[in-house]
Amino acid sequence: MAGAQSIALIGAGRMGTALAKGWLAGKKTPDIRISDPQPSAEVAGWAKAGTVTLNPDPSPVSILVVAVKPQVFPKVAESLKAWIGPKTLVISIMAGIRVKQLAERLGTDRVVRAMPNTPGAIGRGVSVFCTMGKLAAADTAATEKLLAPLGDVIGPVDEKHMSNVTALSGSGPAYVFLLAEAMADAAEAEGLPSDLASKLARLTVAGAAALLEESGEAPGALRKAVTSPGGTTQAALDILMDDGGMPRLLRQAIRAAANRDRDLSRDTD
Ligand SMILES: NC(=O)c1ccc[n+]([C@@H]2O[C@H](COP(=O)([O-])OP(=O)(O)OC[C@H]3O[C@@H](n4cnc5c(N)ncnc54)[C@H](OP(=O)(O)O)[C@@H]3O)[C@@H](O)[C@H]2O)c1
Repeated sequence: MAGAQSIALIGAGRMGTALAKGWLAGKKTPDIRISDPQPSAEVAGWAKAGTVTLNPDPSPVSILVVAVKPQVFPKVAESLKAWIGPKTLVISIMAGIRVKQLAERLGTDRVVRAMPNTPGAIGRGVSVFCTMGKLAAADTAATEKLLAPLGDVIGPVDEKHMSNVTALSGSGPAYVFLLAEAMADAAEAEGLPSDLASKLARLTVAGAAALLEESGEAPGALRKAVTSPGGTTQAALDILMDDGGMPRLLRQAIRAAANRDRDLSRDTD
């Protein structure tokens, strides 16, 4: 991040805080201004230590990052204009708010819509972004740099993909957490002690994810490699992959999440 760059972060919740943490961990700390009516103790601590400015009067910045809930955006959009000057790049991480809506409500075409995910809090997330028409190369580079502390950055992609991106990588960590939760609950119901079930589920999901990443193999190939015909894994997969099983449920779940993203867009029109 360039030393002279100023960043205003609107909304320091889970995602906004994860972003700010990444910027603060960089070599050159940018001038970070945070706007949040009820900042967490962590954010208040940064302000006390002088590493960020909390709730200053708005004035045009290099990059404006909008990280409030999508439902809050229409209420605050007008007031955000005070942060925007002719050189300001706007990056929104709000689900469901389209670039056109950002541009119209904020009065600028220099807008980026990004979708990060919560593993970004430990630098292991993935962010996907799209832009309003063709963005200047410098703005694309600034977007990549700004999101890099959260992990991988992919884009620009066509905005028509953003609802499915949101449903897959944006909401996806919750599906994996549910898997760990349900696996532990099921084993406990079969008689395994609760703490052992939780520990094994956590280690299994984390280990499988690490293997998936490190081996570079397709998930289907890794699944087949641990499934001997007539064995224990096969017995479980026969249930999970049955009609109405996991693939079908996930198809419905991803569609529901993508539809919710589209609803949020419509609610903002
Ligand atoms: N969590 C995810 O997995 C995820 C993934 C990708 C994208 N996103 C997107 O990221 C955005 C933030 O999500 P989040 O999970 O970080 O939500 P969050 O924890 O609720 O964060 C939103 C923050 O904005 C604050 N806020 C509310 N009104 C404000 C205002 N007028 N000015 C400044 N700040 C205000 C909230 O304060 P109060 O709590 O006091 O209201 C809260 O601290 C959402 O648009 C979401 O779609 C989230």
